[in-house]
Formats: sequence, C-alpha cells, structure tokens
Amino acid sequence: MRCVSGCVSAAVADFLSGLADKEFAPRRAELLRHAHGRVLEIGAGTGFNARHYPSAVDELVLTEPGGALLARAQHRAAAAGRHVEAIEAPAEALPFEDRSFDAVVSTLVLCSVRNQDAALAEVRRVLRTDGSFLFIEHVRADEPRRARWQDRLERPWSVVAMGCHPNRPTLERIEAAGFVLDELRHGELPKSLPIIRPLITGRAHVDDGSAERDEC
Ligand SMILES: C[S@@+](CC[C@H](N)C(=O)[O-])C[C@H]1O[C@@H](n2cnc3c(N)ncnc32)[C@H](O)[C@@H]1O
Repeated sequence: MRCVSGCVSAAVADFLSGLADKEFAPRRAELLRHAHGRVLEIGAGTGFNARHYPSAVDELVLTEPGGALLARAQHRAAAAGRHVEAIEAPAEALPFEDRSFDAVVSTLVLCSVRNQDAALAEVRRVLRTDGSFLFIEHVRADEPRRARWQDRLERPWSVVAMGCHPNRPTLERIEAAGFVLDELRHGELPKSLPIIRPLITGRAHVDDGSAERDEC
C-alpha cells in the first residue's frame, strides 16, 4: 500500500514539475554549467536536472528521501544518457564523507526539507573547501505584503504542495550556515502562484575563514 501511494505521489510530482519545465529548463542549464567533478544533488525529485549536467561532471550522485521519486530520477537520467548513483537519504542526514564533493546542487528543495539549517549544515560538511553550492530556490518575498500572504497561506499550501513552505528566508539561512555568495540573481518562478514566485539563483562557497585571516 505504501508503495502504491509513493508511486502515485511520484507520478503527481513528475507531472507538476513537468508543467513549467520548458520555461524552467534554461535556468537549470545556466546553473548547472558551473558543476564539475564529483557532484551531489539533494532532493533530486524525478530527475529534471539530469540532462543539464555538463560533461565536466565525472560522477553524479542523486539523493531523495523517497525511493519512488528516485527511481523516476534514475530512469530520466538514463534516458538522457547520464549514469547516476541514486541513494535514498534526506538532506538532513547525508551518508557521505566530509569534503567529498566538488559541487552540491539544490533546486526547489530547501522550501520542503524538514529542517533547513540541518540540511545546509550537511551540504557544507560534504562540500570540498574549494567546492560550490549551486542553488535555485523559491523564497520569502522582500515585499512585506506578499510575505504576509506567504505566512497566512503557509499551512494550507504545505498540505497541498507536499510539505513546501513558501515563506522561508532561505538566503539568510544559506549565509548563516557559513556560505559566501559568489553569484546571486533574483527572479521569478515561471507559471507559479504569487506566494511561490520570488526566486533566487546562486552559487556559493564554504566560508573557511580565509577572508578574515587575509585581513589580519
Ligand atoms: C519541488 S520538488 C523539486 C524536485 C527537484 N529538485 C527539481 O528541481 O525538479 C521538492 C523535492 O524536495 C524533496 N524533499 C523533501 N524533503 C526533503 C528532505 N528532507 N531532504 C531532501 N529532499 C527533500 C522532495 O521529495 C521533492 O523531490
């Protein structure tokens, strides 16, 4: 029974992600061209990023807390000619060694993880000191009026959108987790409701304290 409901949810998630794929695909491609070497994608969903990884990526590891989504992601990656290792794990507890990836990718995931700070601490832990955190996330609005609507609608939205929280100040949390931004762009999630429209796309590296050391 659990398998049936997991497979149905995976099919629904796949269908919903596919709705705006045409408009969203260029953003995925633009972000992922910065990936190289050994790459980890958290919350890979049904694998819509897979076809956008450049050939400079030698090893791609996809993670997801749910096996049904992961199976679809693996299938989609294979169809794009991309070999992946698929591992069932939540972003809050990544089963990998410290500093073992050149890049970690998160697209539309940090809105849904149970514990954002724990997930970001794990991303930081598994990234090499010269590695990149590549992200596209929908976030809390800067305009107070829209942010108030995000707060009001958080609960019902979370129920219909499989645990997505529209009002998270994700950029603040990324910086608080010890990342330094290399690039940041604000935009809008295409074909979406106003409460999930504010979008950030960025690249960041782990703050290893070298900037302060340089100042001394
Ligand atoms: C909107 S989907 C985005 C999927 C995919 N990243 C993409 O860009 O198409 C949100 C994803 O976050 C995943 N997710 C939810 N909780 C998670 C957690 N604790 N750790 C990792 N991923 C999680 C969901 O299973 C789902 O695949």
